[in-house]
Amino acid sequence: MTKPKIAIVVGSLRKDSVNRKVAQAVCAIAGERLDCHIAEIGDLPLFNPDIEASPPPQWARFKAEIAAADGILFVTPEYNRSMPGALKNAIDVASRPYGQSAWEKKPAAIITASPGGIGGFGCNHALRQSCVFLDMPVMQQPEAYLGHVTDKSFNPDGSLTDPGLAKLVRNIATAFADWVGLI
Ligand code: FNR
Repeated sequence: MTKPKIAIVVGSLRKDSVNRKVAQAVCAIAGERLDCHIAEIGDLPLFNPDIEASPPPQWARFKAEIAAADGILFVTPEYNRSMPGALKNAIDVASRPYGQSAWEKKPAAIITASPGGIGGFGCNHALRQSCVFLDMPVMQQPEAYLGHVTDKSFNPDGSLTDPGLAKLVRNIATAFADWVGLI
């Protein structure tokens, strides 16, 4: 049986991003059930309606990756209690032209990870607000606000050092695979 294709959108452009590492940990856990790949957003020119009619190739590439996916996993840091600008730009890029959004009806989950204690809660819910308008069914539980995540949270092989965090990430990955199958 073919596995559902999952586009993972990582909200951080940082080379050593802990969110990218969380995304890779989810891929490793859910890999038997889901065909995961990271849809890169770092090269996307800023969205501008003036160039919608002749979109840059990077926009077309990203939008095609989202359109081809059976589900979307957002893994992102919180910036100033909301989502990073690069992530919002990517969302806008694949949502246009009006009426031709690539996000529509794609089952999704949102993981936010931060060294801070509240695990990107503000970003998680700001992103949910956009997903409502984009008509994306977003997994509700388990909630995935991962706090106190730092470089030290990962072993050299990418697995998580803290057993509690490892268990939570495993539960999220399993629930997301179930969610994609349900919708
Ligand atoms: C942050 N950071 C941050 N953290 C948080 O928990 N809440 C916040 O509102 C913010 N705001 C914020 C703004 C900006 C511009 C930056 C650069 C950083 C800290 C952030 O969580 C930390 O840098 C993470 O390590 C970023 O995740 P990655 O890049 O490691 O995935």
